[in-house]
Amino acid sequence: MSETARIILDGTEYEFPVIQGSENEKAIDISKLRAQSGYITLDYGFKNTGSTQSAITYLDGENGILRYRGYAIEDLADKASFLEVAYLLIYGELPNEKQLTYFTDSITHHTLLHENMKRFFEAFPAGAHPMGMLSSMISSLSTFYPESQNPNRSVVDIEKTIHRLIAKLPTLAAQAYKHNTGHPTVYPSNDLGYCGNFLKMMFGLPTQDYEVDPVVERAINKLLILHADHEQNCSTATVRVVGSSQANLYSSVSAGIAALWGPLHGGANQAVIEMLEAIKEDGGDLQKWINKAKDKNDSFRLMGFGHRVYKNFDPRAKIIKKAADEVLEQLGIEDPVLDIAKELEQVALNDEYFLARGLYPNVDFYSGIIYRALNIPKDMFTVLFALGRLPGWIAQWKEMVENREPIGRPRQVFTGANHRDFVNLGQRD
Ligand code: SDX
Repeated sequence: MSETARIILDGTEYEFPVIQGSENEKAIDISKLRAQSGYITLDYGFKNTGSTQSAITYLDGENGILRYRGYAIEDLADKASFLEVAYLLIYGELPNEKQLTYFTDSITHHTLLHENMKRFFEAFPAGAHPMGMLSSMISSLSTFYPESQNPNRSVVDIEKTIHRLIAKLPTLAAQAYKHNTGHPTVYPSNDLGYCGNFLKMMFGLPTQDYEVDPVVERAINKLLILHADHEQNCSTATVRVVGSSQANLYSSVSAGIAALWGPLHGGANQAVIEMLEAIKEDGGDLQKWINKAKDKNDSFRLMGFGHRVYKNFDPRAKIIKKAADEVLEQLGIEDPVLDIAKELEQVALNDEYFLARGLYPNVDFYSGIIYRALNIPKDMFTVLFALGRLPGWIAQWKEMVENREPIGRPRQVFTGANHRDFVNLGQRD
């Protein structure tokens, strides 16, 4: 006997089905609420509202569990390559050798950009934030590949668009970095792996050989996997809503990049390092900053702390914290900011305010420490987040399209002026 939910409104009882997911999560299906009762629900920030049913990523916020297509994030981060994880998220299964070879070869051969795109970069001002450049450039890809704009595009066209996106995002990211360093473009190298090629396009120079450091390459691979998907977070929900209007995948991902940029979301990794550097500059009085974070009259928040879903440790933060120690040791780097981060975590996690609200380090708290150690500038941190999140955005967009989900169009409760007659105030000439 399937479960139902009963609501009594204006003396009338309404019954709605309860659905249960494969991990026993339950939801009240209110698809017919307005048609039957005239009522809608209101849920700022969709804190209690599911927008879809998805088979891609499972989070258990209370127990700090994260799985991509059923595989534990701890296993994937330790044992898989980023392209294997991208394939898993997008197509639902880990690739066999033949599938991975085809996927990798196809991506490798789509890494070049149309030469016209160099003129777009030239038009950006010096010091332009790479996320602003990336969002624009990704959207402009739809103009170079007009077949992507066809809502009735073939499976082959969708696959080509997916491969082009995964292939070109690192090239565009590296070009955004070069725009601000003023260094010459380094074109993609088809003999390198996905992460190694990105590193060479970022840090290489046309006038000299570039040796990919395996420690750095492994760190990037792990970080991209840890950021690859995270169910219906702000930027993924954005990609799904934009895609639900049958906008093309490039435009949908461009919107996702814009949403990720916000400091409350993916922009937090840059904000964390800026916060830690400010604390260091200020003399390192941790309690002062903890008090600021708790003070409702102070807009300061402890960046990298707290999460909409995780009310315990973000499993990714645990993995990144361990990786930060390993990478800095392997590279022989002493970073006082890492020590401040660890002390800050200890002070916060012994403070009732943070414990009572389930505020723990999230994915962004330690990731910036590793990016710093890899000589990646702060304004590129969220670009790295976007590189990692791309297969998740693609997988979620593809699931929404394949499930033929309706256009996303929330309702509202109107609180403005009631009807009033137009009176000519005589102010018009
Ligand atoms: C990401 O959704 C995802 O999955 C996102 C992400 C992904 O992989 O896609 O995991 C990536 O975006 C991680 C989050 C990165 N952002 C930050 O680190 C910014 C700092 N954190 C917050 O601003 C906040 O915690 C959010 C935005 C992450 C979550 O906000 P919620 O769920 O809307 O919670 P809230 O703002 O309602 O906070 C609840 C309470 C409030 O206090 P009270 O009103 O109950 O007294 O906790 C307080 C908040 O003031 N609070 C904080 C805090 N975060 C929440 N107080 C101080 N410092 C903080 N960081």
